[in-house]
Amino acid sequence: MSNTLTRVAVVGCGVISKNHLYALNKLTTVQIVAVCDIVEQKAKDAADAYGCRYYTDYHEMFVKEKPDVVHICLPHYLHAPVAIEAMEMGIDVLCEKPMHKDLEGARRMKEVSLRTGRRLGVIFQNRYNSGCRLAKKVLVSGELGKVKGVCGTVMWNRDDRYYASGPWRASYETAGGGVIINQAIHTLDLVRWFADSDVEDVHATVSHHGETHAEVEDTAEGVIYFKNGIKGLFFFSINNVCDEQVQVSVYCEKGKIQITGTEAVITLNNGEVLESTPSHETFYGAKSIYGVSHVRQIAHFYRPGNEAETTMTMEEALKTQELIDMIFKSSAKSD
Ligand SMILES: NC(=O)c1ccc[n+]([C@@H]2O[C@H](COP(=O)([O-])OP(=O)(O)OC[C@H]3O[C@@H](n4cnc5c(N)ncnc54)[C@H](O)[C@@H]3O)[C@@H](O)[C@H]2O)c1
Repeated sequence: MSNTLTRVAVVGCGVISKNHLYALNKLTTVQIVAVCDIVEQKAKDAADAYGCRYYTDYHEMFVKEKPDVVHICLPHYLHAPVAIEAMEMGIDVLCEKPMHKDLEGARRMKEVSLRTGRRLGVIFQNRYNSGCRLAKKVLVSGELGKVKGVCGTVMWNRDDRYYASGPWRASYETAGGGVIINQAIHTLDLVRWFADSDVEDVHATVSHHGETHAEVEDTAEGVIYFKNGIKGLFFFSINNVCDEQVQVSVYCEKGKIQITGTEAVITLNNGEVLESTPSHETFYGAKSIYGVSHVRQIAHFYRPGNEAETTMTMEEALKTQELIDMIFKSSAKSD
């Protein structure tokens, strides 16, 4: 095997790790050298599937394997400590969303990346969906005139079985939040990306309306006032009876972009359809509602410069984390 291959390790062999390992395995420039999970059987199963070594202690894996890159697929409260330890040891990081459970940890990650010169990528794969890429292209082209408003909705179902399958998801201490930081973070990121502006102010509420015993919020709604005058609107709930397709609407002077799941339709004010994405993107990995684009973002991480218009940088991930922080603070003010 060529010694120019990038040596990659994955920490956390739970639900989302399957998308990472699948995507990594498709890359000819990458070698999966090891995986790690505190549950030995999970680590062993992943190692057997991908023909690599396994560990139950990530520190030991970093020391023994000296990977070039580590993918972090861990509960939110472990993102900053593991990412920081890796970067301090000279290892680049590709971390699952969010950067961390809270803004302070996310800011520390950025500081360490800048100080050590190690790359820090954060997975926001929905920016790589065909519909989102088409939407961004049309917005940048100016064909629809100025953006006036952006609206995002997530109506999914997460019940006590979901929280039982990963108890870390149920508490503020380990997850940092519920629907906002765990499910709808992608949609908030898209609203911000399409508005293409820093946030001036947020008026929002987060609450727990449903039957689950989780401590974290299951509902969030609010208005985002962007510095460029665009108004963002959002409604997120995990009390639905099923997982509905995520909707993002972008209202422009000359028409509207409607994103449903991974697809987009661009309509002019006279009703004429300007452009749309082909449907039927192939689903793979864990769950189709997570989008189909881990493969694209992970390939992009290993081929910097590719698809520059959809780059998800550490700075962008931090801005979305700042927006989440503003939403929680706004809600706390109105209590
Ligand atoms: N991008 C997406 O669409 C998407 C979808 C789902 C989850 N995620 C994110 O992926 C991350 C993981 O979520 P998940 O659903 O896979 O969770 P999970 O609970 O299924 O997996 C986490 C794994 O980490 C392991 N673990 C815990 N502590 C560890 C430690 N100290 N060392 C090694 N392993 C340890 C657990 O045993 C578990 O197997 C979270 O950040 C989550 O938000 C992203």
